[in-house]
Amino acid sequence: MADEKRRIQDLTDLPGVGPSTAQKLIEAGFTSIEAVAVATPQEISAATGISLPAAVKIVKAAREALDIRFKTARELKEERLKVRKITTGSKNLDELLGGGVETRTITEFYGEYGSGKTQICHQLSVNVQLPEDKGGLAAKAVYIDTEGTFRWERIEQMARGVGLDPDEVMENIYWIRAINSHHQMAIVDELFDLVKKDNIKLIVVDSVTSHFRAEFPGRENLAMRQQLLNRHLHQLMRLAEIYNVAVVITNQVMARPDVFYGDPTQAVGGHVLGHAPGVRVYLKKSRGNRRIARVVDAPHLPEGETVFAITEWGIRDPE
Ligand code: GTP
Ligand code: MG
Repeated sequence: MADEKRRIQDLTDLPGVGPSTAQKLIEAGFTSIEAVAVATPQEISAATGISLPAAVKIVKAAREALDIRFKTARELKEERLKVRKITTGSKNLDELLGGGVETRTITEFYGEYGSGKTQICHQLSVNVQLPEDKGGLAAKAVYIDTEGTFRWERIEQMARGVGLDPDEVMENIYWIRAINSHHQMAIVDELFDLVKKDNIKLIVVDSVTSHFRAEFPGRENLAMRQQLLNRHLHQLMRLAEIYNVAVVITNQVMARPDVFYGDPTQAVGGHVLGHAPGVRVYLKKSRGNRRIARVVDAPHLPEGETVFAITEWGIRDPE
């Protein structure tokens, strides 16, 4: 309740938004100024019943409140210099990624079941806590778990594997189970508050797509599904940029047996980032505990693929 009141306060900071409009926005899932700023007026109008001209004004006010404006090239350079990297635990994989998983961006790991997506998410949640000279950011992680596959036991093991205290490491990972796509999006809206107040440098969404696929199945729901997913990705991107955090998402896809000789990265489902900014990494099973990683359409990263291993202690280079 107190939470609800505070949110209404936030939204009513916007000119033209009174308590009842704020209420409508919140009920439709636009729970923060950021959520309003990245929405389209059409979307807001359709979801809340607020008239389109009023929605246009509200979105404009939200964008102004967040200072969405032109930047100089110099500012862009300075932002780029703020980008930091988190080691994956494998030198090979770090090199493929240009030094590790970057802050201020979304990195998508996609691949079939067992390809190592969840293991990488666990490893990064541990590694972000390492000191900077060991490839971390001495910071905490948020783990949004949509499939219930997070395992604290595995975190303990990985913490030992990098020489950190397992209890401390577990203390610094905020885990939450997202029960449906709506909840998943609401969690991200809430994160604007948490990330601002706490030293969080990694946000994991494992997996980003499963709820959306289950709730919006088939071709007839594709447009709706994509629209919601895009809004979700937008929100994540805003978090990454405003607070200089790394966002890591996973996406299960099926390998295509029919294109044996074709491009294996053209898996069924494909990656979700589309042409949104970010890094897409395709993962593939290889012999035993080995996995192959390939970065897909990233002009700023070297072409090619690499091999890493999922060991007892976590993600490493193969022996
Ligand atoms: P889906 O979520 O089903 O799409 O798969 P995923 O890509 O998330 O696969 P995940 O990261 O869960 O990788 C599973 C693989 O990691 C297993 O096949 C195991 O080989 C390995 N693995 C998982 N847990 C452990 C562990 O505790 N010890 C070791 N040595 N390997 C593990
Ligand atoms: Mg998984």
